[in-house]
Amino acid sequence: MTKSSLTSEPWRVGVLFSRTGFMSVIEETQLRGTLVAIDEINERGGINGRPIEPIIYDPGSDTRTYGHLAKRLMVEDGVSTIFGCYTSSSRKAVLPVVERLNGLLWYPTLYEGFEFSPNVIYSGATPNQNSSQLCSFLMKLYGKRFFFIGSDYIYPRSSNRIMREMVAKRGGSVVGERYVRLGASRLEFAPVMQEIKRLKPDVIFSTVVGDGTIYLYQAYADMGLDPKVMPIASLTTCEAEISAMGHDVGEGHLTAAPYFQGIGNASNEAFVVRYQKRYGTHAPTNMCLEASYFQVNVFAQTLEQANSLETPMLRSMVMGSDFDAPQGNVSINAFWGHADLWSRIGRANRNGQFDILLESKSTVKADPFLIGHGRSAGQASQA
Ligand code: ACM
Repeated sequence: MTKSSLTSEPWRVGVLFSRTGFMSVIEETQLRGTLVAIDEINERGGINGRPIEPIIYDPGSDTRTYGHLAKRLMVEDGVSTIFGCYTSSSRKAVLPVVERLNGLLWYPTLYEGFEFSPNVIYSGATPNQNSSQLCSFLMKLYGKRFFFIGSDYIYPRSSNRIMREMVAKRGGSVVGERYVRLGASRLEFAPVMQEIKRLKPDVIFSTVVGDGTIYLYQAYADMGLDPKVMPIASLTTCEAEISAMGHDVGEGHLTAAPYFQGIGNASNEAFVVRYQKRYGTHAPTNMCLEASYFQVNVFAQTLEQANSLETPMLRSMVMGSDFDAPQGNVSINAFWGHADLWSRIGRANRNGQFDILLESKSTVKADPFLIGHGRSAGQASQA
């Protein structure tokens, strides 16, 4: 018998999501998804008789603080597994810490791809799982002239570079590209909206994140623009931001994501009921919350086999594993350490939910470097 099976000491893990600052609207939901999963596992008796104990810090939406707190978790709290981060800049701040100290970061957010670390499990979508499908959809339904608006950091800039190539490959063009600082105020979106009104693109592709998302869509509504003619399309705007901006403000705009609350499968319906029992019937679920939830479950089933929090052991055993997530069955791609996920496009409705317009027939294999791009995309079907 191993030493760990003789003890009832908790499995200590770190959790790093912002509950304060301009990223808290979405990161609070990621924290909740993480804690719901941990509580469910503990209610079932924990892992090999031992509960999971989260050590939770709030980085306050400050990029460098994620790095400092990751170090504190690993050095002072003796933790090697960390669940956390929304922005790619916060992930980049944690990366050197987990790589230097051989930790394992579980990252539950879509991102720009073009990264591979043996110390990260990526459970959010990469561009071949969302951008590619969104680009084709938009060009078919709305037109070829895109305007890009993003927050000024790595995810929007890299994501726009990729989207620009996808647009050009399909015969379209980018008529404007603007960035606002992370944490921008509502006023800062007005001039960009004026420019959009003047240029009249067919589609606005937004990579704005955090509170800025709310201000962007509100500035759009203030201009009296019509989403039926020129929607905002995004990879990040989900039920959490729609709820914060107002359902009427979000209505008609588009998002590509692996998960929406409205997915009609039994596993998701049960998940939404459990979540809302805890947080209230007006608390919507969303893609980042769902990824936070399923990655803890993937971790837990791996830990059950490994019976150890040693990073090399966990990492090698998680490769290729799968889980019946609310979005459908997902797996950790054994080659990339990124999740193979479903691809969907939704349009926000008056109830703050997304009507699903398109979904893949199976999971789309993770292809973070777009190596097999075009071949790995699961076929989409119009709903
Ligand atoms: C992101 O920064 N990965 C949304």
